[in-house]
Amino acid sequence: MQLDDLYRRVIIDHYKNPRNKGAFEDDAVTVNLNNPTCGDRISLQLKVEDGVVQDARFMGEGCSISMSSASMMTEAIKGKSMEQALDLADKFSKLMQGEQVDFDEYEDLEALSGVNKFPARIKCATLAWNALKKGINND
Ligand code: FES
Ligand code: FES
Repeated sequence: MQLDDLYRRVIIDHYKNPRNKGAFEDDAVTVNLNNPTCGDRISLQLKVEDGVVQDARFMGEGCSISMSSASMMTEAIKGKSMEQALDLADKFSKLMQGEQVDFDEYEDLEALSGVNKFPARIKCATLAWNALKKGINND
């Protein structure tokens, strides 16, 4: 299907050319999380000032779904308040439950919609988002 091809291309682009990959040299909120089903890891860093996510970086080892999801997530949350970032995380959970979600601010995320049919891959796609929630909720 054409749409699937388009989605696949978006995912591969983020995997091969990850946005915001790396680490900050100075202080940042850092969350390390792993996907218990495969052991893959992500380290997410957030720069938060005045309740707004100014910048984000990630590092990790993982499959194309987990790494592309992290790349998209770090792009999507930049400039968002912590509340807006959590709202995006909620929207992403809905997408993973098979709901139709409009990410007008950052439509690349919709490329991950097909993942909801594969429970193991949902864990891959949500890894970065779980790290985000952990970082924002400080738990
Ligand atoms: Fe195996 Fe993601 S590819 S769990
Ligand atoms: Fe490990 Fe996807 S296979 S995060």
